[in-house]
Amino acid sequence: MRMSFRLIFSLILGVTLLSLLFAVFQGRAEKRSLQKELESRAAIFGDSLESKVANLLEYRSHRRLQELAGEFGKREPLMGIAVFDKGGERLAATPGLEDYVSTELPVILQSISSDSRKAEFKTLNEKFLHFYVTPVHDEAQEAGALVIIHDASYIKAQTLQLWWRTFLSTLAQAVFIALVTLLIIQLSILGPIARTTKWMKELRAGRGAAGRHGLDEKDLFQPLAQEVTHLARSLTYARAAAQEEARLRETAEARWTPERLRVHVRSKLGDRPFFVVSNREPYIHSFKGKNVEVTVPASGLVTAVEPILRTCQGIWLAHGSGDADRLAVDENDCLQVPPDDPQYTLKRLWLTKEEEEGYYFGFANEGLWPLCHIAHTRPIFRSKDWECYQSVNQKFADALLKEMQGMEEPGVLVQDYHFALLPQLVKERLPGARVAIFWHIPWPNPEAFAICPWQAEILKGLLGADLVGFHVQSHCNNFLETVDRVIESRVNWERFSVERSGHITQVRPFPISVAYPEAGTPERSGASPYLDRATLMKEHGVETTFMGVGVDRVDYTKGILERFQGLERFFEKYPVFLGQFTFVQIGEPSRTHIKRYHDLLGEVESEAERINWRFQTSKWKPIVYLNRHHSHQELRRYYQAADLCLVTSLHDGMNLVAKEYVAAHEDNQGVLILSRFTGACRELRDALIVNPYDVEQLADAIHTALVMDHAERDDRMRRMRQVVKDFNIYRWAAELVTQLCEIRLDTHVEVS
Ligand code: G6P
Repeated sequence: MRMSFRLIFSLILGVTLLSLLFAVFQGRAEKRSLQKELESRAAIFGDSLESKVANLLEYRSHRRLQELAGEFGKREPLMGIAVFDKGGERLAATPGLEDYVSTELPVILQSISSDSRKAEFKTLNEKFLHFYVTPVHDEAQEAGALVIIHDASYIKAQTLQLWWRTFLSTLAQAVFIALVTLLIIQLSILGPIARTTKWMKELRAGRGAAGRHGLDEKDLFQPLAQEVTHLARSLTYARAAAQEEARLRETAEARWTPERLRVHVRSKLGDRPFFVVSNREPYIHSFKGKNVEVTVPASGLVTAVEPILRTCQGIWLAHGSGDADRLAVDENDCLQVPPDDPQYTLKRLWLTKEEEEGYYFGFANEGLWPLCHIAHTRPIFRSKDWECYQSVNQKFADALLKEMQGMEEPGVLVQDYHFALLPQLVKERLPGARVAIFWHIPWPNPEAFAICPWQAEILKGLLGADLVGFHVQSHCNNFLETVDRVIESRVNWERFSVERSGHITQVRPFPISVAYPEAGTPERSGASPYLDRATLMKEHGVETTFMGVGVDRVDYTKGILERFQGLERFFEKYPVFLGQFTFVQIGEPSRTHIKRYHDLLGEVESEAERINWRFQTSKWKPIVYLNRHHSHQELRRYYQAADLCLVTSLHDGMNLVAKEYVAAHEDNQGVLILSRFTGACRELRDALIVNPYDVEQLADAIHTALVMDHAERDDRMRRMRQVVKDFNIYRWAAELVTQLCEIRLDTHVEVS
């Protein structure tokens, strides 16, 4: 308060001084212009009288002169005139002026003696007067002088009035400015500060929510608001993590949390730097109109890998695929991420159109993807795609090795089927590096894998790693069998490892998972409140009692068309649900540059339309198809509102949608229908397990889910939630890092 009074006092003083200074200048200017005006008025008047006075002087008509002087007595501000002869004797004067005009006035004598016009302002008998004296001539002879006298006191009065006006308006302005300033300070500064102080007190006491700081984020306090939000969020997270740790210690549970992962990673890695390589980057900068937007691709990987990189301030190398990506990097193509709380480095590598075409669309997604997923889409292997795949792997290896220059034992985690050759390329040049590769997709049986013309090269590339991870044991088994059949090596089935040219590669399952938000973390504490199903469906113009959800990239391995057939059959078999159950399919367009994916988009759309056309009414339809990317928060609304979730993949390494649905269902009331061809079905045994090719079974599973009694739903969901909670993403990351760090390195390797 004291500060605002100081501010206001200085403001009033400043404004007043400035305005008074301005008033002084204005007053002077006004006085000068009034004086000038009077001077010229006197001169004009003098000119008009001069000849008349000259005539009367010539004829020495003093009486007439006196009469003339008498005529000008009452014409304010003119006080009158006086006439003098050349000797300085007053011949005539307007009555009443006698006291003011005499030759004692130097200006009169000066005019007569110098024969020139003179003027002056003078205060006489307490009156402010103006004297104008002009010589009068008769036929070129000097005859005398005419004196014109004006009362100039109005000039002083007007100037004084101006001063007063200026003073009063200045005072009014200063008071007004002070009041407005007080109001602004109160509304924009003191108000938010008071609210923020109250919020901070609550936060300190563990009651406030991170985002409700009371500062307007579009205003003066924007930078502060952002920092305060981060600070509060970190505090909330830290407190939640500490509480959770304490609770876990209390209950002797060993649940994995981001904090525990951080501590664990630090103890395992020590000072060792850590690198992650993936094709898809964790943050994508793209243009949205004229603005640049940052998105996080909907994958669990960022959640899992970030705590590791944050701990050791590591580097993540990935393909810069966003159209605004180049704008965000420095001269080394790096940027610090996460953008709002920078903790590690993202290094972007650029690919030419041809490289992307051959390596990503071609070899990785038209070759390896259908090769590893048994979904009856024929893999395509072109030798020019293979060449691109090799050269892009080399490009990433070179970039990685450059970053690791001079390091003794860096840790490297390579992601997925895009970089099968990278482990070997790195280990050849830096045998001290600890390299793991995690294969996020299934590994097929040796017969299926044998379709790949370069299967031996792929296997050799992978075996360069110290650790190869898959989601489930059966993929590990398939991999070891493939190695056994294709290349010369020693497979140790007891230790699940391969020895080749003196180098040992461990092969292990690491079932990937989701974060599973803990109670008290922002995601659970009101950031995404349960949204009434009716409200959500109203947004799509549908009235329904029951609702189901499916979330997938539009990919032929996801069994979306099979799911729709199951839905159609369900409505045929159980028509009582017509008008009562709606299925929301969220389908994110993916890899649409590939014809098979492009065609599939159309097929899914037209199949949804066909089924809708068959059953829909004016207020209801069986399928709502939402064909765009949805953020994590948006998806949670659907997960939480849905009575059931359909995951019908024809083949899937894990499928995180199944786990996300379970993690989101805090009320324990959702039912998961899960394909038996997913990795997730090995862990989520309380889902309704289905064969997505069996249309009847699918239809019946939907029915079973909808009529399942409350207690059974609760039971099943509770058990599945326990699994996801215990085997969360942090555990996945911790086990991978632990394994990688505990491997004994054989640094004198010949990998060829
Ligand atoms: C699968 C792969 C990931 C990939 C994701 C999205 O989950 O295992 O490596 O990032 O699909 O596909 P995209 O081609 O868009 O990266």
